[in-house]
Amino acid sequence: MKQEKYTFTYIDEFGDICSANFRLNEYHSLMDLLFDKYLQEWGDCKGRAWCGTCHIQILEGTLSAKIQNDEKHTLSKLHGASAHSRLACQIPVNSNLHNMVFKVITENDYGTN
Ligand code: FES
Repeated sequence: MKQEKYTFTYIDEFGDICSANFRLNEYHSLMDLLFDKYLQEWGDCKGRAWCGTCHIQILEGTLSAKIQNDEKHTLSKLHGASAHSRLACQIPVNSNLHNMVFKVITENDYGTN
């Protein structure tokens, strides 16, 4: 049986538009998927919702509005977080990600103080 492929688009830390393919439940979280296949410089706390290095902002698409307290707390401490911000380590790899567009947020997005 052929397994359906899903895709999403992300804007990386250099501003490049990239696309990624995935299979349902292939990884524990969006952070694990991107860390394994595409991005190396994030995921410092290994998915515990503590470090905020996996900060993304959703540009197109919707995810469950249900956000756990740990994620809310970490997002509230992040410089530049908005209502569209999420932590990739708290996002399951499921069909909700299909056709989603998001931006990987780094310190550089906010300049220096
Ligand atoms: S990996 Fe640390 S908050 Fe997501």
